Amino acid sequence: MPLLVLNGPNLNLLGVREPETYGTTTLADIEADLTAAFLKVTLRFAQENSEGALIDHLHAAHEDGVDGVVFNPGGYTHTSVALRDAVAAIDPPVVEVHLSNVHAREDFRRTSRIAPACVGQMSGFGAAGYRLAVEYFVNRDT
Ligand code: DQA
Repeated sequence: MPLLVLNGPNLNLLGVREPETYGTTTLADIEADLTAAFLKVTLRFAQENSEGALIDHLHAAHEDGVDGVVFNPGGYTHTSVALRDAVAAIDPPVVEVHLSNVHAREDFRRTSRIAPACVGQMSGFGAAGYRLAVEYFVNRDT
């Protein structure tokens, strides 16, 4: 089962970025953890800081027939109509993931433009949120 794990802006800085909010786990740690935890799943990883590049990955996931997308859109979560439209346009279902609990922070983080086009949202479970999202796809298909 191929899945795309897609991360948006500033998530390449995990580990050094605001560790009190996002922890000290790096994105490479998260990707290695997922690879080790889901040996039977073909995981494709991507991280981009720009909106258009993220959209291109979502389109490619559709064209390549991936079964699902685990997506942390970072700050674009709260602003991007174009990413929401891309999520709505593609066939593979998308689970939105946030390391932090976006509902317990600043008001502007409470709104996701993307979540309404997703299957669901995982928020506040740290790196475990990615695992839970992959597990959703694994369990859905068994
Ligand atoms: C985030 C939450 C967003 O509000 C923020 O802009 C991020 C990270 C998270 O994983 O908690 O970049 O998506």
